[in-house]
Amino acid sequence: MNKALSPTDFGALEGFHDLNPTQDDFCASVIKGLSRKQKTLSCKFFYDQRGSELFDEITTLDEYYPTRTEIGILERSSADIAAAVGNQPTVVEFGAGSVRKIRLLLDAVDAPVFVPIDISRDHLVHSAKCLAGDYPETRVVAICADFTNDIALPKDLPTSNRLGFFPGSTLGNFTHDEAQQFLERTRATLGTGSAFLVGIDLRKDAETLHAAYNDSLGISAAFNLNLLNRINHELDATFDLTTFRHDAPWVEEHGRIEMRLYSTVNQNVTVAGTAFQFTEGEYIHTENSHKYSVAEFQALASSSGYEPVQVWVDDAERFSLHYLRG
Ligand code: TRP
Repeated sequence: MNKALSPTDFGALEGFHDLNPTQDDFCASVIKGLSRKQKTLSCKFFYDQRGSELFDEITTLDEYYPTRTEIGILERSSADIAAAVGNQPTVVEFGAGSVRKIRLLLDAVDAPVFVPIDISRDHLVHSAKCLAGDYPETRVVAICADFTNDIALPKDLPTSNRLGFFPGSTLGNFTHDEAQQFLERTRATLGTGSAFLVGIDLRKDAETLHAAYNDSLGISAAFNLNLLNRINHELDATFDLTTFRHDAPWVEEHGRIEMRLYSTVNQNVTVAGTAFQFTEGEYIHTENSHKYSVAEFQALASSSGYEPVQVWVDDAERFSLHYLRG
């Protein structure tokens, strides 16, 4: 339900709308995923408190180039971006991820209204409050929701000159079909005349990609395994983390890195009273990270009804930031 909470609960936050999925959704999703022949877990549950901390650590690793490269593009191209976007858009961010990135964008375009959307309530409230405090001229309206669902924006937001922002190559975590549907849906959410700024990790040599997701300090492994830890704590499950091993191979045929957790022994695991059997060497598929060439992504955007207008790429051609018109 769309519960609007009193502004006093959220400091300088002007509005907060809770469309959050319940704990039942987490449990049902885990049981459904583990019941499949190819066991899967949804990557949207990576980001509990510990998961968010570990991901922040990933973004500082030498091997994990996407975050710092995208920030570099935003820094270097902010004047270009502002020129393309035009003045004073309502900025809608899908996933309240990186504080640095959104600040660079808000500074560049001088946004009067900012609407962060995120599945993780505590993280969202914290970051939205901080931003509202630091940008007193900007109206901040936070929406706690799963952006893979349909989202109706609050009626009192400006309807023209909306700019969607979807950094971090999160779109790469969807399959191509899901990505197309997401783009179609956001285009409908943002409305005609809107624009969308999307960060996409580029296709590159397998070695660089592999290192980014299998770092030498083991933070990627800890991040992936933390999902099992979260399930243990929140869903009364019995995963023994010493009997699962992270691996993230580049799968050329699908143009993606696949995040996997291998069971190193034959074992049974119980989740909320339901037992699951694992054989030695079997893996749980936890996430995909698709990589696109500029042309591949532009074709996807076009097939979703967007017009690719401009693209910024770093000198080493590792990452791309696309400006699309709705
Ligand atoms: N969305 C991130 C990405 O695709 C997630 C991620 C980075 C990740 N490193 C990881 C997930 C390691 C599992 C394991 O880049």
